[in-house]
Amino acid sequence: MCGIFAYLGKKKAQPILLDGLKRLEYRGYDSSGIAIFDGTKIEVVKKKGRISELIHLLGKKQLDGRVGISHTRWATHGIPSDENAHPHFDQLRHLSLVHNGVIENYQLLKQRLINLGHTFQSETDTEVLAHLIGHYYELGKEDDPTARLIQALKRSLKEISGTYGIALIHSEVPNLLVGARRGSPLVLGIGNEEYFLSSDVTAICPYAHKVVYLNDGDLVTISSETFDIQSLNKTNNGFEIRDVDQTEMSASLKGFPHYMLKEIYDQPETIRNAFRGRLIQEEATAKLGGLNMSPQELLRIERIQVIGCGSARHAGIVGEYLIESLAHIPVEVEFSSEFRYKNSPMDRHTVVIAVSQSGETADTLAAVKEAKRKGLKVLGICNRVGSSIARETEGGVFMHAGPEIAVAATKSFTSQVLIFTLLALLLGRLRFLSAREGHEIVEAIEALPDQVAEVIKLDPQVRELAKKYAHSKRFLLFGRQFQYGVALEGALKIKEVSYCSAEGNPSAELKHGIIALIDQFTPSIFLCPKDGVYDKNISNMEEIKARGGPIIAIATEKDDLVSKVADEVLYIPNAQEYLCPILTVIPLQLFAYHLAIILGKDVDKPRNLAKSVTVE
Ligand code: AGP
Ligand code: GLU
Repeated sequence: MCGIFAYLGKKKAQPILLDGLKRLEYRGYDSSGIAIFDGTKIEVVKKKGRISELIHLLGKKQLDGRVGISHTRWATHGIPSDENAHPHFDQLRHLSLVHNGVIENYQLLKQRLINLGHTFQSETDTEVLAHLIGHYYELGKEDDPTARLIQALKRSLKEISGTYGIALIHSEVPNLLVGARRGSPLVLGIGNEEYFLSSDVTAICPYAHKVVYLNDGDLVTISSETFDIQSLNKTNNGFEIRDVDQTEMSASLKGFPHYMLKEIYDQPETIRNAFRGRLIQEEATAKLGGLNMSPQELLRIERIQVIGCGSARHAGIVGEYLIESLAHIPVEVEFSSEFRYKNSPMDRHTVVIAVSQSGETADTLAAVKEAKRKGLKVLGICNRVGSSIARETEGGVFMHAGPEIAVAATKSFTSQVLIFTLLALLLGRLRFLSAREGHEIVEAIEALPDQVAEVIKLDPQVRELAKKYAHSKRFLLFGRQFQYGVALEGALKIKEVSYCSAEGNPSAELKHGIIALIDQFTPSIFLCPKDGVYDKNISNMEEIKARGGPIIAIATEKDDLVSKVADEVLYIPNAQEYLCPILTVIPLQLFAYHLAIILGKDVDKPRNLAKSVTVE
């Protein structure tokens, strides 16, 4: 979590840092701060709360200086407060540092430093790292302060366990900006006689024309003239200077009041982008060149293990039904965090698919590394090109959904499901699917963007429903087969943005316990398009109705029966059951959005959350 933004160049650092921070605010927003070196000393201003609070505190104050670091925090160690906000100083207040990640052995190091006479201003793990580097700097024998600082940094990084993305400045080493990463993202931006460090490329897009995605173990030193990257790992892979992908910049609200709503409305386009150029009409299949696998290799796959967190895992659950039914390959879906520590038996014909919008989720990244260590083939379904997971995997499929800024995932979920459909089609056509069946799937996929646009037209109706049920404290969501993952996803959306309690379950589980929750104040949302389990869903709804529970159904157009059982019905266009998840999830996204707005919640930046979870 958290956003780091740093600058070294010829311009005044403050406005650039604040602008960069605003672009990174979705990554964490419980406090923020900046540190600027004015030629003699480092001045730090930091504040609890949103970046607007920091800007307010700064008022008309302009810190002078052309090199600086900044941070927007998502607390792991120590409450959100002014003191715990970054940047942090070392003991002598010569060095200032911002950090993303967790120093796992900070308690031990802190005690050691306290024994040496250090005093700490915050409860954070980060401050310990600042002190440790400062301590080794003071002990250093090198005459050249730059060399001494780098030595001190290297020595400190060797002693810490955990993860970090850091940026630091030192008042005895003017015109030097230093960054390093292990397990947390950091990107170097190169502009005209200016350099940037950022947690994410979107923030540097407006300034830099070239970027270097730093690798784990990289240490970058930046001066006014040049930069240097060295690897602290034994394996030095070098680095690649790439052009900035300007599509990463298209993160504006385009007239929508919130990113979440804008991103829901983006979906006809993002779904088209996910399959553009990937369907081959003549062969009735999908072409996924990024997998870097030959048809022979694809045929050898005997089992698929999907890993992901939150919405990405939910998309994987829909993917499980897609691949098992269309390609007849057994699929298992696991939380990344569980997979990493679980010693599941895997054979060499298993392929692991890591799903992640950001490509930076620490749990998923660690699980990818564990799978690779076991010698497994690992593929990625990511949105962010150049992200850690995209680079760590041997192949994969990019979503091309454009930046997703709202903390609640919407368009990335539907793109992930669409990509699983393409995978299922490709793997199925290599096995059991006939050309006729393949053609049907291709046609159905091509019809999706228009159908999604139709579903979005339900928006005003969904808003009214949200108004009607806004007093409810608890929602139950039910779906089975292809719709089970959607029920989980809908519940997560409601929880994340409205803070109402919500749980998703397979419909038939109702009678195994959940039915005890049914009363007139607890609405049940049923996902019951015309599919293979439609009748079963209707029976489950009857069971709820018999106990006085309100029912909202999401059903297929022209279904007259459902309205006799449910109190409210939202109709989606008729589609193949394996494509319905992409349609049924949209009313749930809209429902969660409107509920949050009606309840006065900060929909794009829900409390306690951050967009990409780059700590374990
Ligand atoms: C989704 O609304 C959540 N914000 C969260 O569960 C998210 O899906 C999860 O953290 C995974 O993120 P990723 O796709 O970037 O890996
Ligand atoms: N562990 C650090 C803290 O709690 C950094 C957290 C972050 O990545 O924002 O301050």
